[in-house]
Amino acid sequence: MASNATALVALTFLLLLVLLLPLHDALSNPNPPTSSAHDELRLHGFPVGLLPSAVRAYSLNRTSGDFSVDLGGPCQFTLPPDNYLASYSPSVTGTLAEGRIARLDGIRVWAFFKWWSITGIRSDGGDLVFEVGVVSAKYASKNFDETPVCEGRSSSS
Ligand SMILES: *[C@@H]1O[C@H](CO)[C@@H](O)[C@H](O)[C@H]1NC(C)=O
Repeated sequence: MASNATALVALTFLLLLVLLLPLHDALSNPNPPTSSAHDELRLHGFPVGLLPSAVRAYSLNRTSGDFSVDLGGPCQFTLPPDNYLASYSPSVTGTLAEGRIARLDGIRVWAFFKWWSITGIRSDGGDLVFEVGVVSAKYASKNFDETPVCEGRSSSS
C-alpha cells in the first residue's frame, strides 16, 4: 500500500515536471527583440543596434548583397554616442557585405542643425565608420550593441 502511494506521488510529480518544463522554458526565454535581419548584421560584422527592433520584414540577395528592411513605418530614436536623433524611413535599402554597408538609403541623422543622410557604414576593428558622402565619423561599435526601440510607437505595430 505504502509503496503504491509513493509510486503514485512520484509518477504525478514526474508528469507535472514533464508538463511544466516546456512552459517554464517558454516563460524564461521570451523571444529576443531581434530578428533575422539583426542576425544578418551580426554575421557580417556589425552590431545589432544599427537596426531598430521594429523590423517587420527584410530581404537579402546573397549574390549581390542588396537588402531591403521594412520597418512598418517611420522610426526615430536617439543614438547613444552623442545623443543625435536618428530618423529611419519605413524602408531602408542598401548593399551588405562583410564589414561594409554601401549605397545606403533611408537613414538620416540630425546633427549641426541639419539632417545628414548616412550613405554607408564600415566596420573597422572595434569601430563603426559612418559615411555621409565623402565625410565620415567614427564611433565605437559597443555603442550599438542594443537594439533601439522606435520612440512614440507601440511595440505591437
Ligand atoms: C540577386 O543578384 C544577382 C546579381 O546582381 C541577380 O542576378 C539576381 O537576379 C538577384 N536575385 C534576385 C532574387 O533578385
